[in-house]
Amino acid sequence: MKFLILNGPNLNLLGLREPAIYGRETYEDLRILVAATAARLGVEADTYQSNHEGALVDAIQAAYGVYDGLVFNPAAYTHTSVALLDALKAVSIPTVEVHISDVSQREAFRQVSYVRSACIATITGHGLQGYAKAMELLKEHLSK
Ligand code: DQA
Repeated sequence: MKFLILNGPNLNLLGLREPAIYGRETYEDLRILVAATAARLGVEADTYQSNHEGALVDAIQAAYGVYDGLVFNPAAYTHTSVALLDALKAVSIPTVEVHISDVSQREAFRQVSYVRSACIATITGHGLQGYAKAMELLKEHLSK
């Protein structure tokens, strides 16, 4: 079982970026957590981050036939991108949407998620551990 952990804009700046909201752990810490979780679950996992919407669309398209599941934090594009929604719908790879912060308790514009309708679940407000939960959920879903 092979997962792609996909992260959108500004998540490369974890640790530096608004630590009161996103914490002090870095993107490298996230990569370490993903690798440890993959080992624990007995799955393979790759990580990819981009600040560019089109590059994320390309990554979703390239995932077709390669990955069994996606863990996706589209970051700010969550709230704006029909292109990412359409890419997820096009490839139909089971996807879990993740947000580090609890977007439901933040600004009104963060309450909207364009990608959510193409995802099997959404995990918000669990910090970096949300990615581990998402990987567990994907494994469970794919094992059924
Ligand atoms: C985020 C929440 C988004 O609203 C924001 O634009 C991000 C990160 C999160 O992980 O909490 O960049 O997706």
